[in-house]
This record gives sequence, structure tokens and C-alpha cells, in this order.
Amino acid sequence: MRETTCRRTVLAAGAAVAGSALIGCSEYNEGDNGADSTPRATSATQAQPPGGEELAATADIPVGGGMVFKDRKIVVTQPDAGDFKAFSAVCPHQGCLVDKVADGTIDCPCHGSKFAVADASVEEGPATRPLEEMKITVDGDTIRLA
Ligand code: FES
Repeated sequence: MRETTCRRTVLAAGAAVAGSALIGCSEYNEGDNGADSTPRATSATQAQPPGGEELAATADIPVGGGMVFKDRKIVVTQPDAGDFKAFSAVCPHQGCLVDKVADGTIDCPCHGSKFAVADASVEEGPATRPLEEMKITVDGDTIRLA
């Protein structure tokens, strides 16, 4: 019965998920009679290390300014010393990536929208909405995605 359930799961989930479904099937204790179908914890469900993906060193972000990480589509700012913020670099006007931080604003090259470094509110249109805020953590000298 248990084996049948696993085969159904694998067939329904497709090849991409098959590996993890099979791992789940192999996690039952020896001597299980199949009545308990709860999989045991696997390495995929174990706790992750604290903090997320590393973004930058705090020293890389100028006070009163910021830095655009185009490959990650994120802009990190430091409006005041030790106060770090992160926002999506995707402009809410038509989806271009903002490309620079200068004179207290995060600037979009496509149509000239400017967003405040402190909270990404619109300083100058045509955008009418702020950049989306991203959650970050500061771990010593490292800024990470939360
Ligand atoms: Fe940014 Fe238009 S896409 S101002």
C-alpha cells in the first residue's frame, strides 16, 4: 500500500519532484507496517543557517546614498549612518531597472522617475508608486536578504 502511494505521488508530481518523493519514501523506519504514513524529517527540511543570501558589505553602501545590484534586481541604501534599506530595483512605472543612486534619489533611466533613498517614495514621476521594499538583516558588517 505504501509503495503504491509513493508511485502515485511520483507519477503525479512528475520527474522534477520524483527525487524528493522517493527520498520521502525511504525515510520510514524499518518494521513500519505502513499504518504511519508521516515521512520523517529529511535534510531538505532541516533548519537553514541564520540570515539569507549575502548582498553586500555595509562599508560598500555610502551614507545618504546607495548601490544598485542589477544582477539581483535590488537597490540597497543607507539614508543615515547605520540605517540600511533595500528595495526592488524594478521600477513600478514600466518595469525598467533603476540604475543609479545620486543626490538622495534612486533613479530610473527609462522615463526619469526618482525615488527617495529613505523609503523609495516617488520624488519625481511618471511613476506613481514607490519601489517595493525588501527585507534585509545586518549581521555585523554583512547585509543579507532576510
Ligand atoms: Fe522607470 Fe518609466 S520605467 S520611469
